[in-house]
Amino acid sequence: MPASRVGQANLVVVANRLPIMRVDDETGNSKWVTSPGGLVAALMPAMADFDGVAWLGWTGEQTEYTPDAFDHEGIRLIPVPLTDDERELHYDGMSNGTLWPLYHGKIEPPEFHRHWFEGYRRVNRRFAEAAAAAAAPGALVWVHDYQLQLVPGMLRALRPDLRIGYFLHIPFPSLELYCQLPWRNELTLGMLGADLLGFQAPSDAANFHQLARALGLATRFGPSALEFQDRPVQVRAFPIGIDYHRYEQAATDHDILDRARSLRAQLGQPQIVMLGVDRLDYTKGIDVRLRAFKELLAEDRLHPSQVSMIQIAEPSRDKVEAYVSLRERVERLVGEINGDFGRVGYPVVHYIHRTQSFQELLAMYRAADVMLVTPFRDGMNLVAKEYVASRLEESGVLVLSEFAGAAHQLKEALLVNPFDIDGVKSAIVAAATMSPEEARRRMRSMRRSVARHDAVGWAASFLEALRS
Ligand code: F6P
Repeated sequence: MPASRVGQANLVVVANRLPIMRVDDETGNSKWVTSPGGLVAALMPAMADFDGVAWLGWTGEQTEYTPDAFDHEGIRLIPVPLTDDERELHYDGMSNGTLWPLYHGKIEPPEFHRHWFEGYRRVNRRFAEAAAAAAAPGALVWVHDYQLQLVPGMLRALRPDLRIGYFLHIPFPSLELYCQLPWRNELTLGMLGADLLGFQAPSDAANFHQLARALGLATRFGPSALEFQDRPVQVRAFPIGIDYHRYEQAATDHDILDRARSLRAQLGQPQIVMLGVDRLDYTKGIDVRLRAFKELLAEDRLHPSQVSMIQIAEPSRDKVEAYVSLRERVERLVGEINGDFGRVGYPVVHYIHRTQSFQELLAMYRAADVMLVTPFRDGMNLVAKEYVASRLEESGVLVLSEFAGAAHQLKEALLVNPFDIDGVKSAIVAAATMSPEEARRRMRSMRRSVARHDAVGWAASFLEALRS
């Protein structure tokens, strides 16, 4: 391998996005700050063990604004430039128009376009080449998520000396669904380039294990490994967690408690505050909980003077048609509910289509008696865990979809099938009327589980498995 192609980082993180965002400072100049996402917080403690850490990703901005590599909080950030055209094919197209809907069980129909896949392949190659150039001999490389599924295979071809791990943050589908992909072999071979494949749930890992054998690409090497090209590939579940202590600590902050109190006052001191916090995504079941809420109000099982709902819907992927039409559906429902049941100064649903600060979110978690997390399908769902971590007094009830990965760990939530609207309605009523004793018993057990499986432990156990 020519010396010029070898970098200095002993740990290379490869993710679609860099863990930073550009903000304007007091003087109006823009600067980069660490983005609120959980991945960087999870990795920070583990990164301290490595001499030289690089993180490769897209800045979310156009090529002409993409900076050169720079150091940020001890990490070498290596921006991967994408043209508008590449972003359209790779991100809006193949990632979010094909793989995302397919892997989430076809809640929206996936589209299969050859030019999208060609763009996806081109962008994956750029990431693989940049990772190959950044990694020191024998380094660990950790590739993340469905946007970069071809990277492990491409990287192994360039740098067979590396230890390569890949973690899929979203569900891995059943054989029948995955096999609809015209590029199923190439995408599977891409993942098999890794030494360690991590998934959110055991069922996701089992789906991959079965798929690789069914396609005749790998053979069984025990229950949690495959053999591929005379090499073992570990296939295991590593359920992701949150930075529990950060939420727990922030929940005691006086400013946040004051804000939680003033939120309840602004809502008109209802008996019950319900909350939903999601990216505006059709997988999240925002429309389901709004429909359930609307029917409960119409049937007088909930009363508008006693209950208020806050729904945060963070803008997301707004160039993809399915997201545009979801926004219309959700906003129409919010309008209908407030039109039918609101009063002047007191809408029943408070809908916010903007990203919230960490502090504001915390205040909402603190103010909410009932948290509604009703995705049709979700790899994990960290919002459910954030709510639990913020409930210091062990009060509050979580209504959680059975189809979120978090349901494997949060068994004391009120588990619902989001496709069963009557079941969701009953769970909302049960949550609103639950005795404080029962709520406390459930919340205590969930808090223990969220504390035990936190983000730092998740990253450490993945890297430990990759190292060995
Ligand atoms: O968890 C899935 C995921 O696509 C992550 O890869 C990403 O960080 C997050 O959702 C937000 O999505 P996007 O990068 O498309 O805004």
